[in-house]
Amino acid sequence: MTTTPASAAVAPTAVGVATSVPSGTTSTAVPSVPYDDDPTAHRVLTGDRPTGPLHLGHYFGTLRNRVRLQDQGVEMFVVVADYQVITDRDLADRLAEHTENLVLDYLAAGLDPERATIFPHSAVPALNQLLLPFLSLVSVAELRRNPTVKDEITHSRQSAVSGLMFTYPVHQAADILFCKADLVPVGQDQLPHLEVARTVARRFNERYPHADGSAVFPRPQALLSDAPMLLGTDGGKMSKSRGNAVALGATEDETARIIRGARTDADRRIGYDPVNRPEVSSLVLLAALCQDRTPEAVAEEIGDGGAAVLKRTVTESVNEFLRPMRARRAALAADRGHLRQVLRDGAERANAVADATLAEVREVMGAAI
Ligand code: TRP
Repeated sequence: MTTTPASAAVAPTAVGVATSVPSGTTSTAVPSVPYDDDPTAHRVLTGDRPTGPLHLGHYFGTLRNRVRLQDQGVEMFVVVADYQVITDRDLADRLAEHTENLVLDYLAAGLDPERATIFPHSAVPALNQLLLPFLSLVSVAELRRNPTVKDEITHSRQSAVSGLMFTYPVHQAADILFCKADLVPVGQDQLPHLEVARTVARRFNERYPHADGSAVFPRPQALLSDAPMLLGTDGGKMSKSRGNAVALGATEDETARIIRGARTDADRRIGYDPVNRPEVSSLVLLAALCQDRTPEAVAEEIGDGGAAVLKRTVTESVNEFLRPMRARRAALAADRGHLRQVLRDGAERANAVADATLAEVREVMGAAI
């Protein structure tokens, strides 16, 4: 087996990461489908761990892009990565509740379960079985040097590192490849995992071609949003577990409280300068994204208003922006049975696709009986 270093298999990203906000309105931050102009020729897979409510960082980072891709007619699979929850903790706490709430966030944000297949990967046995042949295609050394895994080990709340922690990127390759997705909208931190999926696909295809020489798996590409990253209200990475983020489903009062506590600086003149004033700039950016204006225009309008006016502007913009989504969320939340049904329907569709892929895999391996 060739032991290509993970870094040699870097995915050419379909949409690069912009370090600054594009000129014009913020709605230019849309990933468009690469290669050609036929959206229906693509299949997208993305997903999240059901560990807590989605927040504004998720929305502007990936969720709204998923909705746009769906609306362009791209076929969409969204995995609720329930097995992935137990990579960095022993117990999947309140899993059923987090899973339902994740579906709630998806539907409220505009994912349509008729068009998008939303499913928990634990409910798709054939997807999970792909892990076995896939694990044979990567070396232990490669698993060890995955930077995202290393980072998670550093932040893990477990005393010992489990085998799942090292192998979950290969399981994630199964999430992507079971449905032969060719596009994966993800954040920067997921790029090493996408490299694993590309490596697994390439090596599988080399080792087990179809009789006519054709490949079983496509090589998936990352779709990176060019929306710049929002910081948490403490100036760190926005995170479900750090209490520094506005959840999409938070109340207006909770939203006001979180933004009131945000870190700012002593300069009364509000500007947009992400390098030198990251906390203030992230707040300005958040208001700009909600208002669909440039951060410069928002900063200019606040002028010498200082942190108080900035925070009031951000709170009002966020609450106004999220109001329709929150109303949809509240209506959907009343029917938990519907949320479970969305997952069951999604799992049924995902199982049909996974069964076909596994049959193909066993066929090319000579394992079919
Ligand atoms: N690892 C992703 C996260 O922590 C979730 C995820 C699981 C995922 N499987 C995936 C993302 C497949 C993209 C593709 O958010």
